[in-house]
Amino acid sequence: MKRIRKAVFPVAGLGTRFLPATKAIPKEMLTVVDRPVIQHVVDEARAAGIEHLIFVTGRNKGVIEDHFDQAYELDRTLAERGKTKELDELRRDLPPAGETSFTRQQAPLGLGHAVWCAREIVGEEPFAVLLPDMLHHGPEPCLKGMIEAFAAEPSNIIAVKEVPMSETHQYGILGVGPVGKNRLMPVNSMVEKPPRGKAPSNLMVSGRYILEPGIFSILETQPRGAGGEIQLTDAMITLAKSRPFNAYRFDGRIFDTGTKIGFLTANLAYALERPDLGPALREELHKGLSSSA
Ligand code: G1P
Repeated sequence: MKRIRKAVFPVAGLGTRFLPATKAIPKEMLTVVDRPVIQHVVDEARAAGIEHLIFVTGRNKGVIEDHFDQAYELDRTLAERGKTKELDELRRDLPPAGETSFTRQQAPLGLGHAVWCAREIVGEEPFAVLLPDMLHHGPEPCLKGMIEAFAAEPSNIIAVKEVPMSETHQYGILGVGPVGKNRLMPVNSMVEKPPRGKAPSNLMVSGRYILEPGIFSILETQPRGAGGEIQLTDAMITLAKSRPFNAYRFDGRIFDTGTKIGFLTANLAYALERPDLGPALREELHKGLSSSA
């Protein structure tokens, strides 16, 4: 059985919802507390044992590559100034040399096309996809649980989370059967952004996938779907005709940092649980709320 060693991060999106903040800065570099959003997602992948990080980037995303590189001058200055804590943290976050790859999605043709752009780097092995907008926050990293389930029951696995029925039109939605062993539920149906009232359930595709490499040849000829884009969900529907697909329910909280409210809430939630920030922030919030009353 093959291990999940590689993870694909589609980071080519324009971030138009966050203009003007994202005019010169990739949306993935906006910070949740003091770590870029993409760093939080890479943390999840590395905590799940992922060894090779594959970023599908686009124009104006070069700073993401710099972020995952050694900043030699900065390291030297920190060392000279005795800032060993900061230096240790930077070293801890640095992926080992040779374990990152960057490839470009040359045109904004959708998530399915972005994943397809990673085909040569992934090769013939099952792999993970993590959508950086979606922060999965819980006691256990979401992808770790998925990889454990995959080890027990090799299959394509899609993380899901309940959302209010009123929001199902914004996401991929899965219809599933009863929970079996390994916390997995067989997938009966998938639909990308179903029209209001047409969703098969309220289980949102939450942006964490384990996929077999057979997805690539399907994506190669996948026609455009919802929103005029080449959709990963549509290719998964085809793959599911011949290969097993399971859903994995994530127990923690998910912040959609692609929306302003999700981004702000993530900042508050992550800061409130930090011992160095939580108590002071709680006090500030309390003051702010009482002065506006
Ligand atoms: C993508 C997927 C969708 C999923 C969503 C999660 O949509 O196509 O199935 O539910 O991410 O954020 P997008 O947000 O790129 O429109």
